[in-house]
Amino acid sequence: EQLRILLQRMPKAELHIHIEGSLEPELIFELAQRNGVKLAYESVESLRKAYAFDNLQSFLDIYYAGASVLLKEQDFYDMTMAYLRRAAEDNVRHAEIFFDPQTHTARGVPFQTVVDGIWRACQDGPISATLIMCFLRHLSEDDALATLEEALPYRDKIIGVGLDSSEVGHPPEKFCRVFERCRQLGLHLVAHAGEEGPPAYIETALDLLNVERIDHGVRCLEDPLLTARLAREQIALTVCPLSNIKLRVFGDMGEHNLLALLDAGLAATVNSDDPAYFGGYMNANFLAAFDALPLTAAHAHQLARNSFTASFLEPEAKRAFI
Ligand code: HPA
Ligand code: ZN
Repeated sequence: EQLRILLQRMPKAELHIHIEGSLEPELIFELAQRNGVKLAYESVESLRKAYAFDNLQSFLDIYYAGASVLLKEQDFYDMTMAYLRRAAEDNVRHAEIFFDPQTHTARGVPFQTVVDGIWRACQDGPISATLIMCFLRHLSEDDALATLEEALPYRDKIIGVGLDSSEVGHPPEKFCRVFERCRQLGLHLVAHAGEEGPPAYIETALDLLNVERIDHGVRCLEDPLLTARLAREQIALTVCPLSNIKLRVFGDMGEHNLLALLDAGLAATVNSDDPAYFGGYMNANFLAAFDALPLTAAHAHQLARNSFTASFLEPEAKRAFI
């Protein structure tokens, strides 16, 4: 009970949250109505029931369908503000938010509409928040380069770039040129790797893309040399416990390797990934992991500290949190 209270109340940073994955069925319905978009589901309940997936691709199909109701700047604002308020309730003090511009520009929504709506909510919201633009890895590198060009006028609203969507068959090296360009622009670099993909993708994300953090990364433990390197270099892993169970990366939470990652000296953090789809926001992720694994108060403090240390906050801002 005391541990639960500690987990709920401790200040924390969220470093792995796809804003489109925070879109709750209720808001999907509201936005569909507001925009005159026809949904294939007649009620919030039937939509929620359709959230049946058992791997990354079957999830992504539903996630992209949900995002189709986002058309106007105000829609992106409302989605982001709902997330920031919900995160604040979990004592998240700082969030580094992923967004997927290609999911929207491919449907004819202007890049500016997406960024302006999300960014304005971050200015108005109750917690500190910054933006990481993700490239969809199932699309070509040329598509990613074109998206980067579109983002240049908004360079000051974006702190970094990431790589998400279907992992297997789309290795990091597919995006070498665009990540090199982003590095030259002074953007922070992260990539999803080692969720469904092999440990080798973690290595190429580090060596060929020069990323500073690995999103997920849980499959690193299959490779002892890689594990030792991640510990030595203190490369942060943004672990998402409920996501890993829903997408069957692990059979159940008792089999999750979060404790093993910490025991190996890795800079693991806890995050929600796509909270509207995976059954919970930050504290639900902490509670589910701590209920199923022999994690202690010391681990809780370590995870909270790791989240601020691994953030892209300025050193003074970091120190204020730690
Ligand atoms: N993995 C890859 N792509 C994603 C995810 C994820 O967990 N969530 C949203 N896009
Ligand atoms: Zn993710």
